[in-house]
Amino acid sequence: MKRNFLMGAAALASLATLSACGGAKTAEAPAATETAAAVETPAATETAAAAAPAGAKVEYASFTADAAAGEKVFAACRTCHVFDEGVNRVGPSLHKVVGRKSGSVAGFSYSDANKNSGITWTPEVLFEYLKDPKAYVPGTKMAFPGVKDDQKRANLVAYLEAQSK
Ligand code: HEC
Repeated sequence: MKRNFLMGAAALASLATLSACGGAKTAEAPAATETAAAVETPAATETAAAAAPAGAKVEYASFTADAAAGEKVFAACRTCHVFDEGVNRVGPSLHKVVGRKSGSVAGFSYSDANKNSGITWTPEVLFEYLKDPKAYVPGTKMAFPGVKDDQKRANLVAYLEAQSK
């Protein structure tokens, strides 16, 4: 409607703005995916989280995790990780990561912090680690703030488990 009133340069400027917006939208796509994942968190599973007293340690085992929903959470990891064996990106391959020893992917240049942590990536450990990687492995070079939402993180770990079979 408004464009009917625009002429010449003004119309061109608005077109330029529109295409600039288009560009920005493309860049925002991963964020939009995240929002979608958040919206899809099943309401039924809230019960487990609500039952835990405030401040209590949340256990992976207390969640009904949904690996399919976890695949959407993994979108946040995909920039740096793939599951293909031997394929390292910014982060090491996550081929069969569940059950693996930390720092064990050949050809990946780990930080000493990760390499010497002595961690075995069990589902419980991953659930803790992925909440706040830098707190769990101080000095890690994994530049990822963590998945704070317990249910989403449980879903993510279930997805990692499914991919590790
Ligand atoms: C910005 C890039 C980046 C993102 C995003 C990222 N990671 Fe990482 N990840 C790394 C790097 C780099 C390392 C190696 C850390 C080190 O050596 O200190 C790593 C290490 C790991 C490790 C330890 C692997 C090993 O062999 O010891 C796991 C597990 C892991 N990431 C899982 C994830 C998951 C799951 C996500 C998504 C929730 C994720 N990462 C998101 C870059 C990333």
